[in-house]
Amino acid sequence: MDNEIQKLTQEFEQTVAVAATVQQIEDLKVKYLGKKGPIQDLMKLLRDVAPDARPLCGKKINDLKVWIDSTLQAKYENCLQQEDQQKIAQETLDVTLPGRRRHLGNSHVVTQAMDQMLNVLMEMGFSVQYGPDIDTDYYNFEALNFSKEHPARDMQDTFYITSNVLLRTHTSNIQARIMEFHKPPIRIAAPGRAYRNETITARSHVFFHQVEVFYVDTGVTFADLQFTLTDFFSRLFKATVETRFRPSYFPFVEPGMEVDLRCLSCGGSGCHLCKQTGWLEVAGAGMIHPEVLKNGAIDPEEYSGFAWGMGVERLALLQHGIKDIRMFTENDLRFLSQFTQ
Ligand code: DAH
Repeated sequence: MDNEIQKLTQEFEQTVAVAATVQQIEDLKVKYLGKKGPIQDLMKLLRDVAPDARPLCGKKINDLKVWIDSTLQAKYENCLQQEDQQKIAQETLDVTLPGRRRHLGNSHVVTQAMDQMLNVLMEMGFSVQYGPDIDTDYYNFEALNFSKEHPARDMQDTFYITSNVLLRTHTSNIQARIMEFHKPPIRIAAPGRAYRNETITARSHVFFHQVEVFYVDTGVTFADLQFTLTDFFSRLFKATVETRFRPSYFPFVEPGMEVDLRCLSCGGSGCHLCKQTGWLEVAGAGMIHPEVLKNGAIDPEEYSGFAWGMGVERLALLQHGIKDIRMFTENDLRFLSQFTQ
């Protein structure tokens, strides 16, 4: 029996020496002290020991059991502590590491230009109204005095969806819609996207943004238009601007004109921004055609109005000296993130 006890003691010492994890210690506990373990086997052998040697023998087995138990317990606590420390070490935060910057989004440069225009217009007493990008031939053309066979329809290469439905070619479509439902005085700024079937180049795109501005009331004159335009651009560029009007043709206005600003960069002496002309083209404008008022059920004998339309990309190009309109839609963050507000 002493031999058996000694053998078991040695075997346990060897096994426990190499156990290194909490799990292994738990397994050893089951293996050595469990019901089917070697200690129980030794207990069973006690029956065959001579009665007078039995108490001593039993004590030895019990001492072994207690020793195995306390050895395992001590080792268990040791391993548990080590594992805890490892875990804590892995989870340690280095508070001296630099933080990760969260990038705040900001408005697209074209949206920024549009917002600037609208803010100035609202300051001047205009309200903002939107209209549909997909519209009928009537609102985009016919109500604006482009009759079906009107040669001016060629000015705007149109994306037709059906023979009667199209992607609007300008935000002037909002004029006719507003006039149908509102009676003068009307002071509206109508922003949005416009679409044209053009070749994409540095200077033209198949879609772009416009703001259409119109005012209808009794006694609105050309002088009002001239003043309002000049005031608008002065507020927008925070400078006293000089405007120049050149006669031009748009079916929905009479007279119609192109609006130029004396070059903001060179003051008129000629530079790359104004292509040496001294002037920057910024809008189309005119007095609303009596037919357009009539189409909106507004009596042209009683009321008159002016309208102008301007490109938003054009403003952003001027403001930032950008040379290629395609950059606005390429979604290149290196470009876009330069224009934080
Ligand atoms: N709708 C014109 C265009 O897209 C711009 C325009 C010209 C608007 C003259 C107007 C205007 O209101 O009076 O080219």
